[in-house]
Amino acid sequence: MNVRHLRTKKPVGQPTRGKTASNRLRRVDNFILLYEPALLSRTDGRFQRSLFVDLGYGFDARTTLESAGRFRRVNPDLPILGVEIDKERVEAALPFADEITHFRLGGFNLPLQAGESVRLIRAFNVLHQYEEGDFAPAYERLAEHVLPGGLMIEGTSNPFGSIWAANLARKLENGSWRMEALVFSTNFRMGFDVKEFQTILPKNYIHHVVKGEQVYDFFELWRRAAAEAVHARIFGPRQWFSAACKKLAGHGFDVLLASKWLSKGYLIWNNPQ
Ligand SMILES: C[S@@+](CC[C@H](N)C(=O)[O-])C[C@H]1O[C@@H](n2cnc3c(N)ncnc32)[C@H](O)[C@@H]1O
Repeated sequence: MNVRHLRTKKPVGQPTRGKTASNRLRRVDNFILLYEPALLSRTDGRFQRSLFVDLGYGFDARTTLESAGRFRRVNPDLPILGVEIDKERVEAALPFADEITHFRLGGFNLPLQAGESVRLIRAFNVLHQYEEGDFAPAYERLAEHVLPGGLMIEGTSNPFGSIWAANLARKLENGSWRMEALVFSTNFRMGFDVKEFQTILPKNYIHHVVKGEQVYDFFELWRRAAAEAVHARIFGPRQWFSAACKKLAGHGFDVLLASKWLSKGYLIWNNPQ
């Protein structure tokens, strides 16, 4: 297949470093499978031809193919589209394409074909290489083909994905996004240290951890909560993390306290500003 034939419009965005790693995004996929499996499994109406889009999959297609394996456990026919703005990276991925697994050259203006729509976008380690001013226009373009009720998980991880933070944006009927949650994830290999999460914040927050901003208060109080819960440290980082999140809720933040999240290392802050 010739990449030029797939190019219907100029990709919006800029080429950036393509670093990736095997299983780097495993916990992102597992999070989605736990948060809203029906988004991946449903096949009714417009969802039948509705894609999972992996935007900016990197120098090779490994993370897209790994997600295909995970997500097709709940929907064997799930159509998947890997999008790259770098032509050589698309060419490298094409040998792995099949009837339901596509790789196309594109940007924030997703390269969809007639009749296709999007149920879920995963954009990881993409926007952090952009300027903050690019964030809102990118979200606006990406919203264009997402079905109402669809989701985007957009965030940043460390090189091996052991820790990450991501926006969870929900597509509304009126065509815009609602920022549903800011999610923090750790597999505890690095222990538990609140300040580590600050370094991998998504682009819309990373420059806003300053006095007067809500995300600054969030981190101040999370740090305080971790200090207040330090007695739990003796039982390990997982227990300490859970205890700290509960204290954080006590400080007035809308965070989910179900053990299915906390015990697995996910802190979900609902309706952040
Ligand atoms: C650091 S890699 C991330 C790879 C993978 N998502 C991961 O997290 O391991 C970022 C990739 O995003 C691609 N990229 C940057 N802007 C893009 C855009 N607007 N549309 C599509 N891909 C883009 C770059 O070419 C690069 O390969």
